[in-house]
Amino acid sequence: MKNVLVIGGGGFVGSHTTDALLQQGHAVKIYDNLSEQVHGGEFPAYLSRDAEFITGDVRDLGSLSRAVRGADVIYHLAAAVGVGQSMYRIADYTADNVQGTANLLQAILNTKSAPEKIIVASSMSIYGEGRYVCPKCGDVAPKARSLEQLKKKQWEVRCPVCDAIAAPDPTDEDKPLQCTSIYALSKKAQEEMVLVFGSTYGIPAVALRYFNIYGPRQALSNPYTGVAAIFASRFMNAKSPLIFEDGLQLRDFVNVHDIVQANLLAMQSSGADGMAVNVGSGEPVTVRQVAIEIASLLGLELPLQITGTYRAGDIRHCFADISTISEKLGYVPKVSFHDGMSELVAWLESQEAQDHTEEALNDLAVRGLVA
Ligand code: UD1
Repeated sequence: MKNVLVIGGGGFVGSHTTDALLQQGHAVKIYDNLSEQVHGGEFPAYLSRDAEFITGDVRDLGSLSRAVRGADVIYHLAAAVGVGQSMYRIADYTADNVQGTANLLQAILNTKSAPEKIIVASSMSIYGEGRYVCPKCGDVAPKARSLEQLKKKQWEVRCPVCDAIAAPDPTDEDKPLQCTSIYALSKKAQEEMVLVFGSTYGIPAVALRYFNIYGPRQALSNPYTGVAAIFASRFMNAKSPLIFEDGLQLRDFVNVHDIVQANLLAMQSSGADGMAVNVGSGEPVTVRQVAIEIASLLGLELPLQITGTYRAGDIRHCFADISTISEKLGYVPKVSFHDGMSELVAWLESQEAQDHTEEALNDLAVRGLVA
């Protein structure tokens, strides 16, 4: 049995991780600020009473220093997560994600805590565009699409050498990183800070590069959350989802239970210590398919609204090569897209969601971040 501190344990990934840790008999302490944008000012009803709960912010070094004492394992899952929002709340995102991580590491040092392991939530966003293969030039790692290209609605990524349309390929950890948002930069910083700290002080550390996570407890009313929750809250408010570009962009939708699987494996095994590894389903799915699946599971026949517009900074395709985590930690995704979406939809029926998509888009539009 271990004493586990879950920073961000009040949230989507953190609460599921907490439940699984409790089930295995560990003692869990949650540290979370219950951010208004995610929790709407309410204490989450799903949180287990068997975990100790500390209301605290990662920006508060003093309170964090008290929380880290005695922790054998620390999960750092607290972060501000809106990619678009990070582009206009730059100081807030940097304070929460970068300074927050600095505070955690400082707190460990100041209190002479000696955790056996630190696991930090990283993100696929740090890759920018995923890996591609050009029919003529072979493996290529193209840059983000230009604004000029997007304005012409040429959605596909082109080969940087010969300009042919390149085909997406699974993205592995060696793909050169290309951060295109403040959020992505902050995740890259979190990942590297934890790994450097771990190797300097001899504390095993793992960074998990989560792909697009979905599942019950996703913050439905937070318009800066992932597309599955956004679409779900649109449907629940009898509105069609707004599908950007042509809806054929590919992502890797990984179920939250598989994320929990990876989180626990990273704690139990030393196989990925010192590494940053992908956590995905390994299966590419289009954004259109997400809308179609949710609509069909809800028994709705709302027409899909393909807007032909784009969000600045969106990538076209990225899905995970999961061979590293499979090899190092024995991770095998267990929840299929269909089963996972069915569980999400079953949970939706007990939820109320306010749809703030239009306000959020407006926030981006006034800053020229969507067109
Ligand atoms: C981004 C981050 C990821 C983060 C996730 C949730 C990148 C590359 N990745 O992923 O790390 O975990 O946000 O914060 O920045 N879409 C629509 N209609 C909508 C909303 C989204 O069509 O109403 C489309 C987007 O244009 C995009 C896809 O759905 O093509 C996925 O969007 P989203 O869920 O926001 O996640 P990512 O941008 O992939």
